[in-house]
Amino acid sequence: MERKPHILVFPYPIQGHINPILQFSKRLTSKGLRVTVITTTSISKSMQESSLNFVTISDGSKQGDKETMYEELERFKLFVSESLAELIERQKSSKHPPKLLVYDSAMPWALNVARQLGVDGAPFFTQSCAVNVIYHHAHHGVFLQRPSVSLPYMPSLGVNDVPSFLNDTGSSLPLKIALNQFSNIHEANWIFCNTFDKLEHEVVNWMASQWPVKTIGPTIPSIYLDKRLEDDKEYGLNLFKPNVDTCMKWLDTKEIGSVIYASFGSLTTLGEEHMEELALGLKNSSCSFLWVVRESEEKKLPDNFIEETTERGLFVTWCPQLDVLAHKAIGCFMTHCGWNSTLEALSLGVPMVAMPQWTDQPTNAKFIADVWKVGIRVKLNEKGIATREEIEMCIREVMEGERGKEMKKNSLRWKELAIEAVDKGGSSDKNIEVFVAKLAHS
Ligand code: UDX
Repeated sequence: MERKPHILVFPYPIQGHINPILQFSKRLTSKGLRVTVITTTSISKSMQESSLNFVTISDGSKQGDKETMYEELERFKLFVSESLAELIERQKSSKHPPKLLVYDSAMPWALNVARQLGVDGAPFFTQSCAVNVIYHHAHHGVFLQRPSVSLPYMPSLGVNDVPSFLNDTGSSLPLKIALNQFSNIHEANWIFCNTFDKLEHEVVNWMASQWPVKTIGPTIPSIYLDKRLEDDKEYGLNLFKPNVDTCMKWLDTKEIGSVIYASFGSLTTLGEEHMEELALGLKNSSCSFLWVVRESEEKKLPDNFIEETTERGLFVTWCPQLDVLAHKAIGCFMTHCGWNSTLEALSLGVPMVAMPQWTDQPTNAKFIADVWKVGIRVKLNEKGIATREEIEMCIREVMEGERGKEMKKNSLRWKELAIEAVDKGGSSDKNIEVFVAKLAHS
């Protein structure tokens, strides 16, 4: 019997990075690879049943550790590189020695660990290719401390459109980590990007002229995209507990296209004033809304707001986002423009109100509004806040205005193209097949 090629997959264990790489792992499994996903002790307790094969390594975290995500990544470099090396050694002498390590691009040191042990390596990028290219150029000293980005294969980006770290005046650690993704990229055997060719055509072409890039997205279970394809519904891993029944039963009672879905992903936090403006913007829009307010954010809601809006509002601490976006009652998505949320809305045909906060989100918002034309971006006042009037106006524009109709039409077109990319013979599907075939014959 022919042996399946074995690969190790190492996600950075936060929600927005775990979802796409695990979905990619499932696609690889379905195409005939043996995949082992490496998790670290910090998240092993939050994990549920999955069809994937997991192995846990120690990350050196101690209870009560208070560190930022970026400090955690620095600790990983020191501590996890050792436990990763031990794991690869063990796997190499097992019945199924691994041929390749796919690792999150935020941990470029993983490539060096694999290579020293004679295993190939490939980063997985969770951000858009536009953002990849900007960071790559910044890694070479271009754009830093400059107000704008101008490259031949993307629209010119102003100071508010570039990834926020390029404008940071405080700690340089997040910027260093963002740029380091490109420190050893020329040594990687493959580069996987969660996007699809037609979405970022020119940028993808430029990247592919430099490195062995494979676009493999959108990494959304195909059952949400195209009912003809067989796939399970399980998506990534929920590190938060979703209120599934509450959301779906409530949405079932609403009219087609009548509900605003508001969510800011797993990390973004809003200041109290911003939260109040958002709350009142949603309320004044006169639409029904489903708002994900994570437990850590709940105390920032205006007093009695939940009680005062029970007729039109549903508040949950986490929801099954794909089921929500795919529900016919949803008319628009008020989003922080995380790359997963952006791709998910675009692939499910939902127009957006973009309210980016930090990291890659401003760049995603620029593309949502001006390139793909599937949403409108809120304008900020002199205090950097979107007022309730501005939020209400943007919502009305998307839900009721003429531009909203155009955005809906564009969204449905992108949905078709996303389906085409992952469907049999589509660009992302072919890229995965080529990769699997090459691995099998190497
Ligand atoms: C982070 C960054 O913020 C983002 O910009 C980067 O591109 C990836 O990592 P996050 O902020 O959590 O991610 O946002 P996003 O990229 O949108 O990912 C959130 C994920 O959680 C999505 O896959 C979404 O479907 C899921 N989600 C979110 C839920 O399942 N339920 C929710 O209630 C909210």
